[in-house]
Amino acid sequence: MSISIAEVTESAKSALLAIAGANELSDLKSVKIEHLGDKSPLSKASQALGKIAAEEKAAFGKVVGSAKAEVSAAYEARLKVLEAERDSRVLIEERVDVTLPASNIPKGGLHPLTILTNEISDLFIGLGYRVAEGPELEAEWLNFDALNIPADHPARTMQDTFFIEPLDSKLVLRTHTSPVQIRTMLENNPPIYVICPGRTYRADELDATHTPVFSQVEGLVIDRGITMADLKGTLDYFAQSIFGPDVKTRLRPSFFPFTEPSAEVDFFFNGRWIEWGGCGMVNPKVLEVCGIDTTEFTGFAFGMGLERTLMVRHGITDMHDIVEGDTRFTRSFGLGIK
Ligand code: DAH
Repeated sequence: MSISIAEVTESAKSALLAIAGANELSDLKSVKIEHLGDKSPLSKASQALGKIAAEEKAAFGKVVGSAKAEVSAAYEARLKVLEAERDSRVLIEERVDVTLPASNIPKGGLHPLTILTNEISDLFIGLGYRVAEGPELEAEWLNFDALNIPADHPARTMQDTFFIEPLDSKLVLRTHTSPVQIRTMLENNPPIYVICPGRTYRADELDATHTPVFSQVEGLVIDRGITMADLKGTLDYFAQSIFGPDVKTRLRPSFFPFTEPSAEVDFFFNGRWIEWGGCGMVNPKVLEVCGIDTTEFTGFAFGMGLERTLMVRHGITDMHDIVEGDTRFTRSFGLGIK
């Protein structure tokens, strides 16, 4: 016999001592491998049982069995104690003081102009339009020439336009969103149905009704058989979606170099006519610059200011409220996040 009863008893004793001496769960784990694992003396004693002479087997088996049972029970008991200790330690170490003052940082929200822009984009997307964008730093040619605005047009003078130095860069801060029409027509073949919201710049002082950095939304449709009736119907739908179902629009003859005929669009709101923006049938000269066949296609365009739209709809009387970003003002429009 390779292992004696005395050795089994001895192994059990040292196992029990090791278990009692383990003060951490990680120590207890190593103790378990050493004293109860496959290669431990007690396991080896169990394996040796098969080779023992029949008359000694019963007595030896009993000793090994009860030694293993005792060591296992001691291990389980120690495990419970150490786990309980760990749990109560975690409760203390990871304690959260729920009485401490909370940080009351309000959630951010969208600016009311962004909310309005999203609303307008959504409503035109619903009509099958696409949202088109262009750069705010724009080529003078796209901002003016391609739109049939001649070199001596007042809009080009230094008072209105922010020119970019050096002046022969031929770059401006776009004075309107209309250059996005040109970009769209140069890059796409008709039919074209786009809405172009964006920021625009003019050398104005900031006061109650003006701001040098403002926003416009441009609409452009180019298709076969488009007439002014389509323009009027689209403006009615737009105005009613934004201002209310009973709102009427009217067109007054006007002039824009890029539309022919051109009109000013007003809407009737709270008992009075309010100027909203410009519109018209896209001037064939503009279509030709963009390589669109004017015998096949016609189109309409419109453009209006978003600040003005927001001011009228919400009864805002001072532009400063829109540009200053004071959250006491912007918060009243909600977060604007769907
Ligand atoms: N771009 C013009 C402006 O800023 C507004 C405008 C008028 C746009 C008529 C249009 C239009 O598309 O057809 O004053």
